[in-house]
Formats: sequence, C-alpha cells, structure tokens
Amino acid sequence: MTDTVLRIETLNKSFGALVATDNVSFDVKKGEIHTLIGPNGAGKSTLIAQITGWLKPDSGTVWLGSKNISNLSVAKRSRLGLGRSFQVSCLAMELSARRNVMLAVQSQQGSSFHFWKAISTDKSLTEAADKILATLNILDFADTRTSELSHGKRRELEVACALALKPKILLLDEPMAGLDPASTAGLISFLEQLKIDIPILLIEHDMDAVFRLSDRISVLLYGKIVFSGTPDEIQASSIVREAYLGQ
Ligand SMILES: Nc1ncnc2c1ncn2[C@@H]1O[C@H](COP(=O)(O)OP(=O)(O)OP(=O)(O)O)[C@@H](O)[C@H]1O
Ligand SMILES: [Mg+2]
Repeated sequence: MTDTVLRIETLNKSFGALVATDNVSFDVKKGEIHTLIGPNGAGKSTLIAQITGWLKPDSGTVWLGSKNISNLSVAKRSRLGLGRSFQVSCLAMELSARRNVMLAVQSQQGSSFHFWKAISTDKSLTEAADKILATLNILDFADTRTSELSHGKRRELEVACALALKPKILLLDEPMAGLDPASTAGLISFLEQLKIDIPILLIEHDMDAVFRLSDRISVLLYGKIVFSGTPDEIQASSIVREAYLGQ
C-alpha cells in the first residue's frame, strides 16, 4: 500500500444521460507508468479532469498517497504534487518558452507576489527553468515565443512546465500527439528515465509508445475499465483485441 502514489476509488460521473465515468477504480504505484487507453470519447480526459479537480465527480474518492484529495481545489492538489499536462495546451502563448517554465517554477515556490517584470531578472528562476528545458532538449528554444513553437515543441514545453512543479506523480494526456517520429522517440526515452523518480498516469493513442512505456495498461470503454494488465496480457486478451485493438 505504501507503494501506491495515486489511487482512484469507485469514481462516477454522468453528463445527463451519458455515463462518462462508470465506477472506475485503479492506482499508480511508485516507479511505474500506468496507461489508460480507449477509443475517442471513452472518458479518459474526463477521468483526468476529476483527478486534478477541474471536474467534480458524482461520487468516489481520489487519494494522493495517504491523503484524500477529493474535495481539494485544483491549485491545492497541484501544490501537493499532482502534476499534469493537458490534451489541449494551456501555455501562455505570448510568452517565451523560458518564461512559461519560470512561471511554473515560481508558482511551485509559492512566491505569487512577484510581478512578471521582476521574474525576468530573477537569476535563480532563470537557471531553474533552463535546467528543466535542457533535460527535455528544448533549451535552444528558450527565447522563442511559445506561439512560434511547433506543436511538438509545445507538447515538450508542457511537460517541462509540469516538471517545474516538482510533482509526486505526472498525469500526461496524449503527450505524443502531433510529435514527429524523432521527438516521439526522444520523449519515450525521457519518460522511461523519468518514471524511476516520478510515476506517470499516461493517456496515449500511439500504441507503439504505449506498449514500450507501460508497466500496466487499463482499457476504458464507455467510461468503464474493461481490462487491466501488463502489455503482454493486454495483447493476449481477446476482450481487448475485439473491443479496441480491432482484431
Ligand atoms: N463537460 C461535458 N459535458 C457533457 N459531456 C461531456 C463533457 N465533457 C466530456 N463529455 C463527454 O464525455 C465523454 C468522454 O469524453 P472524454 O473527453 O473524456 O473522452 P476521451 O476518452 O478523452 O476521448 P479522446 O480520446 O477523443 O480525447 C464524451 O462522450 C464527451 O462528449
Ligand atoms: Mg481526451
């Protein structure tokens, strides 16, 4: 139990007649990548929104370590170590890549009384941001306006911002979406290393990446987890093949 970093217990969410989350329970343990797969509209992003606090479940509990975070705000959950990147980018487009990471570093340090003018001259913030940009191999783009970055570089920048918050766990919603093959390969090896320190709840449609990265995979269909297992078990499962992998 002490190895469990995140635990979701019997979560339910409906939008009118549509059951988006149907009695979902699962966990993410230290050192692992647990991936959620499922067709478009299966309820993956809705699930992440309930874990991060953007969306209130109808019932169920979210645990971060031994703490019940179900009733905490998005900001509070983030400060407790729930890191995330979104399926749809929410970076500040008019700011440079470095400035986006600096804002994340600053919010982690809780110094919300700084003004933007002041942070650009704060050397410790600049250095911290550049270090994170370097680990993701995007330091060359530090001064580039985010709106001018390629889609792929923006995805990497989102992961950088999430890491700046020093999370206990990372929730990544389709981090490979729109990446070219070289960037995908780079991100895969980065996440393989990262999971040793920071476990990851991953949502991803790129099945090569999913099978390479995942320690466990859970299949979501119409809001319900229909199968959970190792990549080998998933590939061998006739339920999964018929329902999802299309064979
Ligand atoms: N705020 C909302 N109001 C009503 N219905 C919603 C809302 N948010 C999501 N839904 C519906 O809930 C279902 C699950 O959507 P969700 O975005 O979680 O799917 P997903 O698995 O992330 O899909 P994708 O792979 O396309 O990203 C869909 O039918 C969607 O239309
Ligand atoms: Mg989604």
